[in-house]
Amino acid sequence: MESQEIRKRFLAFFEKRGHAIIPSASLVAPDESEKTNKTLFISAGMQPLIPYLLGKDHPKGKRLANVQKSVRTQDIEEVGDKTHDTFFEMLGNWSLGDYFKEDAIKWSYELLTDKEEGFGLDPNRLYITVFAGDENAPRDNEAAEIWKKYIPENRIYFLPADKNWWSAGDNGPSGPDTEMYYDITPEGLGDLTHEEFLKADNEQKIVEIWNDVFMEYEKKDGKVVGKLPSRNVDTGAGLERLAMVLQKKDSIFDTDLFISIMSKIDELKKSSDIRSERIVADHIRTSVFIIADHVIPANTDKGYVLRRIIRRAVRYADKLGVEMHAIGEVIDLVTNKYRGVYDFGDEEYIREVILEEEHKFRKTLEKGLKILHRKIEAQIGRPGQTYKVHHVSLVHGPDDIQMWDFPPSEVTGKWLFDFYQTFGFPFEMTLEELKSHNKHYFFPQDYKRLQSEFNQEIEKHRELSRAGAEQKFKGGLAGHSDVEVKYHTTTHLLHQALRDVLGPEVQQEGSNITPERLRFDFAFPRKMTDEEKLRVEDIVNKKIKEAIPVQNVTMDKNEAIKSGALHFFDQKYPDQVSVYSIGTYSKELCGGPHVSNTSELGIFKIQKEEAVSVGVRRIKAVLQ
Ligand code: SER
Repeated sequence: MESQEIRKRFLAFFEKRGHAIIPSASLVAPDESEKTNKTLFISAGMQPLIPYLLGKDHPKGKRLANVQKSVRTQDIEEVGDKTHDTFFEMLGNWSLGDYFKEDAIKWSYELLTDKEEGFGLDPNRLYITVFAGDENAPRDNEAAEIWKKYIPENRIYFLPADKNWWSAGDNGPSGPDTEMYYDITPEGLGDLTHEEFLKADNEQKIVEIWNDVFMEYEKKDGKVVGKLPSRNVDTGAGLERLAMVLQKKDSIFDTDLFISIMSKIDELKKSSDIRSERIVADHIRTSVFIIADHVIPANTDKGYVLRRIIRRAVRYADKLGVEMHAIGEVIDLVTNKYRGVYDFGDEEYIREVILEEEHKFRKTLEKGLKILHRKIEAQIGRPGQTYKVHHVSLVHGPDDIQMWDFPPSEVTGKWLFDFYQTFGFPFEMTLEELKSHNKHYFFPQDYKRLQSEFNQEIEKHRELSRAGAEQKFKGGLAGHSDVEVKYHTTTHLLHQALRDVLGPEVQQEGSNITPERLRFDFAFPRKMTDEEKLRVEDIVNKKIKEAIPVQNVTMDKNEAIKSGALHFFDQKYPDQVSVYSIGTYSKELCGGPHVSNTSELGIFKIQKEEAVSVGVRRIKAVLQ
């Protein structure tokens, strides 16, 4: 079923059931969303409807349906897999204080499975999740009971808030949700236990295709503060994923929405790399939509997001050997695909904006390269000049003596970061340039050291511009809410537990906390085994159970480091530093804040362990 038919069937189904069809709003978020939830673009179908979900009367009534253009950049690093993209269309139906769980679930099921009116999906391949309950709202037995009329009980799973609670940000309407997943394996997975279901999701064997949110709560500053004036329904189904499922494709990039764009890139490329091809296709598509909604590249806010998306597309196009002027053809394919669905205005203008930005990027690169070369000569040496320096590896100890052809200490993460900041030079690019200029060879452990230093500089910068555009781009809402403070302390426990299980060479590379989860990046060369993950979980949970007090002292930096407190290699700390200890178990240089006792934390669970780059792993974990 082509994407156009999917949109048509969705809207017709709800129109027949008394819903007014409303057009997609612009991608540019209204000012109040930007202020309250730090969103620069519409990132979900419900966003333009927030005032109505909070109680205002909608001129079209209490039942609405639409297809909304959306942009999400939080997961930009994941674009390139089967299901992530930065622009997507969201099919949604709304009840503004009208029908609730019973009808919403019935209609979702009917539309997904009905062969005449709907999508004719196989009900035996559907899996359902519902909210497991927490201090904000009870376990959603009501939704589960309704689902049982359509789906066997053993395919309904109760999951915690980080999976089955939806809110647009820290402020506004929110509520428990129920999500529908579809099995996309050729052979079919059949019944799955709770654990098997989570594993199948991780492995992208099942795909989330629709989310019904029962919006009856209000959030303020990240906390649920009470009920809304009415009980609403907000549903969202990603068109790209539905198309993938209905067209029986292995990824969204193989659906009719992307296939002509992907074929064109395939034709233009000089070398192959599927991830890069998908990134170029996705980023060009997103840029076209953003520019059509009157945003131009700039150094702040929306313009900055656009700038980075275009520049990222240029880098990956370069990697593939795709000439950017040929990208004009790709832009045509994007606008052609959506002709009659969205208005792009002057398409020639869109092309000019993208190519002009590419030109600016190249000029900056050129200027940056000149300065970089000068710096290389001044600090490292002229091409052809070789240094024979014994370098004692910091990672493998004094026995591992390497020969270097330049003094490695001259290149630091700070140095690389400055280039990134001033010229938009990505880390890899500067290193590649260094290598090609003077045939420098970076040993893997030094690559890791530089990457870790570089990441720390980025983290520091993020801290400084917490309210700035960089932060908004990443979608991180770093803050000091109670939940975030808990995750902060949990991160220290996790860090130590990883060292216990995997060895002391585990080094923190980065950390990011939202009210929903913690994310921890660390240097380690391979995937963790299931057993190792379980051991780490067990240790953290044991430490939580032991109700260990958390203490903070200010002390002399050298003394703190001598005492074994974990710290970032080579980071500049003031003479007096703040050290947080969790009993005798963990000790880290850290500004806090933290909980005062580990008993406040809850149950710790690792949700995902994956690669971020060569030698760097990422853990996403939650407290339940
Ligand atoms: N707001 C929910 C989502 O974006 C459902 O529309 O997933």
